[in-house]
Amino acid sequence: MTGTTDFARGRSWLVFSLLLGSACTADREEPPPAAAAPSPAAVVDVHSFARPEEARVRHVSLDLTPDFGSQRLAGTARLVIERAAGADSIVLDVRDLTIRRVTDAAGAPLGFELGQGDSIRGQPLIVRLPAEGDTVVVDYETSPAAAAVQWLRPAQTAGRRRPFLFTQGQAILTRTWVPTQDSPGIRQTYDAVIRVPAGMQAVMSAELLTPEGERAEGGRTAYRFRLEQPVPPYLFALAVGDLEFREIGPRSGVWAEPSVVDSAAREFAEVEQITAAAEKLYGPYRWGRYDILVLPPSFPFGGMENPRLTFATPTVLAGDRSLVSLIAHELAHSWSGNLVTNATWNDFWLNEGFTTYIEGRIMEELRGKDYADMLRQLGRQSLLATIQDLGGPQAPDTRLQLDLAGRDPDEGMNDVAYEKGAAFLQTVEATVGRERLDTFLRGYFDRHAFQPMTSEQFLQELNADLFRGDEALAGRVRAREWIFEPGLPDNVPAVEAAAFAKVDRQVDAFRAGTSPDSLATSGWSTHEWLHFLRALPDTMELPRLAALDQAFNFSRSGNSEILFEWLRTAIRNRYEPAFPALERFLTTQGRRKFVAPLFEELATTDWGRQLGQRIYARARPGYHSVTAGTVDHILTPAPAGNR
Ligand code: BES
Ligand code: ZN
Repeated sequence: MTGTTDFARGRSWLVFSLLLGSACTADREEPPPAAAAPSPAAVVDVHSFARPEEARVRHVSLDLTPDFGSQRLAGTARLVIERAAGADSIVLDVRDLTIRRVTDAAGAPLGFELGQGDSIRGQPLIVRLPAEGDTVVVDYETSPAAAAVQWLRPAQTAGRRRPFLFTQGQAILTRTWVPTQDSPGIRQTYDAVIRVPAGMQAVMSAELLTPEGERAEGGRTAYRFRLEQPVPPYLFALAVGDLEFREIGPRSGVWAEPSVVDSAAREFAEVEQITAAAEKLYGPYRWGRYDILVLPPSFPFGGMENPRLTFATPTVLAGDRSLVSLIAHELAHSWSGNLVTNATWNDFWLNEGFTTYIEGRIMEELRGKDYADMLRQLGRQSLLATIQDLGGPQAPDTRLQLDLAGRDPDEGMNDVAYEKGAAFLQTVEATVGRERLDTFLRGYFDRHAFQPMTSEQFLQELNADLFRGDEALAGRVRAREWIFEPGLPDNVPAVEAAAFAKVDRQVDAFRAGTSPDSLATSGWSTHEWLHFLRALPDTMELPRLAALDQAFNFSRSGNSEILFEWLRTAIRNRYEPAFPALERFLTTQGRRKFVAPLFEELATTDWGRQLGQRIYARARPGYHSVTAGTVDHILTPAPAGNR
């Protein structure tokens, strides 16, 4: 692990006083009122080397050619820069990039230097700015090991005919494929031309300007893109593969491999209703189209909120639309996260906590309160489990605002941000009333559209705009305690899903010895089953597990969430008949949320660790670096004293 001193050296200052001008150039319709300008306090992003107060990137133009043979993206990034008077250099973030040349707009070489870095942040790339003009062109190539990029062989795709590649920028991985200032507080617009082999399709988190593609050199097809809204670089995204498109709504469609695209279109057919529900609550969707790309099964996340084009795991294709809350979640990021963005990764809860809260609200509109309450209760259960895993309610990482200096931001990306964050907004809602909170949130998104946000700044907003001097109200919410103290404050409202009461009765009956065949489970949805599985006793006799499996076919479930909960139970009890299904699950998808806890469960015993290591040897080559990195740590823990 890198020392903090090293970290302190290259820290970057995001200066909100905006001595370099407005951050919301593309928000032409609704510029935020000047009164809402954030306080001039400087915010440190310890995960970037950039010094935006000297010079900052405003726009990135990419011209990239993927080479599937050598697993490299090669080409240029043309950066449009804004600089303070007297600034003669700009500091970019890069990691594992080969920089071939840096020039000005006319092609005249510019001096550059790769500075001292570390394994988490990569390196600063310091470029001498041209005397004239505001353009810097970096000619570069990515490494096959680029952490953001996964290159898939044809055998790793659904069609098995063509290779595939996709990027994953969040949190600090964009610097492994684009040399830019990779900090969530430094928003940039972008455009791109991507030159792909004939027969392949490129898609990005941007408008596709050439749907048919253009003929390019070497028999390639060039696709052009443009995103006119400024976004943090973690939202730059690219995928290339054998992709087809199906329209599913007036402003939405799905991209997926040909054999998957129709089932994806059916699964996500409600996307327009989801978008309309969010708009009704928080104002217009500001990104034009909302499309969904279904990736091959190694995609490490459930979903990623890339602007205009959510990236999604195929493990949400349950066949019955029971997992579409994931789409509600990613769509919600179009407000919380993509419009108003955590200024640094310490404020990650401002992205994910808000989004999880909004996801619940959207699902309530779509499916009703009973349904949304099931989601909320499952979320609350995960939160309590996570707080325990992190060391209990005193553990520093159970705070909403984190201190990730010297650490990989990945370490802060757990259910605290999501579920404690959501629980905080549920607390505010319960205190001030839904209507007032909705009005506040809508104004918050409008006022801070296309800007970064810190926890402190949010707190100020809350006081100024929601509590408005009502000390009693503020005292009932206890926002400071929620945001800056560990644990779960005791004013959190209870969540009780009516539907789970009947599930609990069946769990009780099962515990009392009732045969699974005789339990009253008809009509249960995915979420009732999830609650049932989580409520089972930690240890069970093998015949009881066999009876459950026989009655409900869990080992063969086509629902990834249900299969996951069942496999966890199976490992805990060493129920070997489920192990072929476990091995299949771990070797055919790479979603970290499923993979990591299963390996963790395996790693708690000697036999399990051995089985885990054997399975991992087969599974690892198929995993994205994000998933492999986490599992590496689980199966080979750092030596004692170094953790
Ligand atoms: N933005 C996250 C995914 C993410 C988080 C990527 C941290 C990299 C670092 C995305 O919106 C998300 O939360 N996805 C969830 C699904 C959601 C329904 C909770 C996931 O991937 O499981
Ligand atoms: Zn999210």
